[in-house]
Amino acid sequence: MTREIPIHYGDSFFANGSSFTNAPLDFLLGMAETYPEIFKFRLGPMTVTMVTKPELVREVLVTKSKRFPKWERDVKILGRFLGRGLVTSQGDHHKKQRKMSQPAFHMKRIISYADIMSNYATDMVDTWEDQSVIDISQEMLRVTMYIVTKTIFDVDKEVMVDQANRIGEAIHRLQQLTDQDMSTPIDLPEWLPIPLNIKRRRERKVLDSAIHDIITTRRQPGPDGRIEDRGDLLSMLLLSQEEDDSFLTAQELRDQVVTLFGAGHETTSNALTWTMYALGQNPDVMAKLQAEIDDVLDGRTPNYQDLANLPYTEMVIKEAMRLHPSVWSLNARYATEDTMIGDYKIDAESVIFIAPYVLHHLSEHFENPKTFDPERFSTENESNIQKYSYLPFGAGPRVCIGQAFAMMEARLILATMIQNYEFEMVPDQTITPLPLITMSIQEGLKMKVTNRAQVPAFA
Ligand code: HEM
Repeated sequence: MTREIPIHYGDSFFANGSSFTNAPLDFLLGMAETYPEIFKFRLGPMTVTMVTKPELVREVLVTKSKRFPKWERDVKILGRFLGRGLVTSQGDHHKKQRKMSQPAFHMKRIISYADIMSNYATDMVDTWEDQSVIDISQEMLRVTMYIVTKTIFDVDKEVMVDQANRIGEAIHRLQQLTDQDMSTPIDLPEWLPIPLNIKRRRERKVLDSAIHDIITTRRQPGPDGRIEDRGDLLSMLLLSQEEDDSFLTAQELRDQVVTLFGAGHETTSNALTWTMYALGQNPDVMAKLQAEIDDVLDGRTPNYQDLANLPYTEMVIKEAMRLHPSVWSLNARYATEDTMIGDYKIDAESVIFIAPYVLHHLSEHFENPKTFDPERFSTENESNIQKYSYLPFGAGPRVCIGQAFAMMEARLILATMIQNYEFEMVPDQTITPLPLITMSIQEGLKMKVTNRAQVPAFA
């Protein structure tokens, strides 16, 4: 029997537009608590369907994903920055791109990045002054930017600091412009000479010329007629196409590389910032984490082999990503035809929202959802978490390709920080989530750092 999907009209003239724009997290969560499983709501001129029941989420993202591609409006806006890389391609084009990118993310390859991650994290903590106040969000943005630059392009921050910064800053500004674009209710054409379009064109020029220079050099075959494998992600993209004989154009390469940069930098940085926020508020968890890290590392820089012995570090990060998932809402999906999910009929052309933030905060999925409790992710407890209720990396054919990379990076950076410093939240700062494409902290996160080498043993 087909069940009716409840609809929330909202009582304002703007059809929920102002509630959504002002406080999307509270607005969506409030409705999800009122209408379990699935509901529709008016958002300005359109009607959105929001899915919160894990079995239904699975149908949209996994088993019936072909009928629910990404919504073209999102893809178009993101494409103005990312081109047609992995995040913004659809159907067969996406399948081809995913296949070509996969070798770059094989575990063997990812493991080879562990030392880069640890060394860059060590360089970062070495610049901190004892007893100083640092902005954790800025530090995390910088270190993840350097790591992604090195692992994608083999561009060293010391050797080519200008190039790395030029690319990183242009990407960062383009991301901000894309956020602005996404939150504009009317989709204005790209050719209109409005400030947003002018700025985006300028930043793209800077970015594209820097990336073009790198790609042109790297596409040149070496003396043996083959493309050199420099151990980075770009090498893997170039080599995988060599084997396959289906060459990516320079534009396609640019789009892939910018996509990896765009998707793999701010996401991890936010995950780490929110983790530090949670630790700042939970001294017991911090003490237990510190004990694990000290015990396992005994003063050494962490390496890949250590990760298996740092289960609590992983539990802490997973729980922080539950409370504050970097990708708080997945890209909207779109129904290509009338489709049943569970007992509900989704009409063709419906726009569908699935928000990890909402899934992670429903009490039917997580007991006391507002409480930070890493024990939820212990070996015994994790298997009790309902499938598709915890989705920091998405699911199905569009699941994050960088998940293993990100989790390794986050654990190595966190372990390096906690091993070297004590952290104390600066009092009276306002912590407001800023849910744009990714969810950061509006005013950043300030913490006072105390070098642990300076802390007397009896303290
Ligand atoms: C904590 C860090 C990260 C989080 C929380 C995260 C989250 C996600 C999520 C939720 C998606 C799916 C979006 C959707 O279905 O609409 C996604 C896709 C993607 N992520 Fe990540 N990500 C992270 C790090 C990374 C890293 C480090 C890279 C690359 C170096 C990366 C590259 C990608 C790409 C290319 C896609 C698109 C995959 C496809 O559509 O086939 N991500 N990510």
